[in-house]
Amino acid sequence: MPAAYRAFVEELRVTPSGQLALTLYREHRPVPASAPAYHPTSTTPQHIIPYYGSRVVATLTSASVQRCVFNWLRKHKPVVVIGKRAIVTRAVDVKQTLARDTEFTIAEINAPNMLRLNGPFFLGMDRSPQYSHEQSTLRRVIKPDEAALIRRVARKHCDDMIQAALPIGRIDVVSQLARPVARRFITDYLGVPGPDEVTMMRWLRALFHDLFLNLSNERSIQVTAEQAFHELGPYLLTLIEQRRELLKQGQVFDDFLSRLVQGQLTGQNDFDDDAIRRNISGLIVGALDTTSMASTLIIEQMLAKPDVMQRAKQVIDDEQKFLHLCFDVFRFNTMAAAMRRYCKQGAVIAGVKIPPDTELFISTASAMFDESAWPDPYTVRDDRPLDDYLHFGDGMHRCFGEYINRIQIPIIVAGVLRLDTLKPCSRLLYDGPFPDQYVLSFDVPG
Ligand code: HEM
Repeated sequence: MPAAYRAFVEELRVTPSGQLALTLYREHRPVPASAPAYHPTSTTPQHIIPYYGSRVVATLTSASVQRCVFNWLRKHKPVVVIGKRAIVTRAVDVKQTLARDTEFTIAEINAPNMLRLNGPFFLGMDRSPQYSHEQSTLRRVIKPDEAALIRRVARKHCDDMIQAALPIGRIDVVSQLARPVARRFITDYLGVPGPDEVTMMRWLRALFHDLFLNLSNERSIQVTAEQAFHELGPYLLTLIEQRRELLKQGQVFDDFLSRLVQGQLTGQNDFDDDAIRRNISGLIVGALDTTSMASTLIIEQMLAKPDVMQRAKQVIDDEQKFLHLCFDVFRFNTMAAAMRRYCKQGAVIAGVKIPPDTELFISTASAMFDESAWPDPYTVRDDRPLDDYLHFGDGMHRCFGEYINRIQIPIIVAGVLRLDTLKPCSRLLYDGPFPDQYVLSFDVPG
């Protein structure tokens, strides 16, 4: 809001009529009903909405129902083969299957769509010189003292969003906090501002939906993603060119994209503009809706478990303890419940024969409730080693952004938990597979 306009609003707020308007807004504004309004960043086609909206589907696919099925499978049939698909459920097998990355490959799963949209990106590549080269070029961009920068950026945007919600006494965790914070983090830390906030959110959700959640290759989701990529690709190439010019003129930037472009100028990396575009595009697609979904699901779990919420509030200023509780409660509804891999030649997992050309669903969600590796799995604990969590996958494709997630997600969750007398105004609502609206009320301070 422009400063003059903001000053005027604040002047009005303190008058008796301003106070009355705020009270009416807070107490009498209807809470959104059963479904979120369709917004410009929605990517779920009209004919699929009834599927996601159905109570029966929601119940059958819920994390708790899946957990019961996995408990049974782990005991009686830990590796199930159904036609050309297989499910792996025990912790030890999940970890080993993800480690056997030359037998259980990812290119067949991710590369076709990545090549159709973005061009090669290392999450669609198997063990190869190109994988190592591109992944390590990006890793080298991360500085040893990166945590301070990540913390500063995430805190600033989180504080801004919470401040804006304070006078209202109500916040939508998705659209008024987690998604904009992750979006602004992409501007400040990854270095990609986008033409405007809504367009960036639309592009990134459309691409993420098609690349990772469109299991039936629904054509309308593909078309939406293709349109988004036709806009994002040229935008990024222009941005790279402009950034290079500014760097040449001596302007100083400290973000991921600028470091890559600077490295290109000084010969520290051999990326051409298209390689920078492909890689930065992969990072930003992986950074927005993931962060928003994960933070929202963790907050929802905390609210569903008042004892955990109370413990979390007690350790809110202890970054490490708080992080442990966030990751442990996240097991009860993790975001990426299974890693998909392809078995080309046929193999054996835990004595079970996997036929050639089988798609594997390696259930990390199931593994994190396997008593043999996760003692006391139904208790939320703060002493499990962070590296054991499988929320971010495992093996060579383990999430590149995990160092960010360990800082940014607890900051977003803590921002909400610091509000007094938190209560959900409605259940968590979805835009297709994306948690999209979760309105909480709280006591207005002072
Ligand atoms: C809470 C947020 C996030 C979650 C839950 C998440 C989850 C995951 C998972 C499960 C994988 C492994 C996929 C597989 O093995 O098939 C992965 C890989 C990856 N993630 Fe994330 N991610 C998150 C945030 C981020 C962020 C912020 C970035 C970028 C800055 C990012 C970039 C990547 C990349 C590049 C890979 C591929 C790594 C490789 O192939 O070596 N992710 N992520």
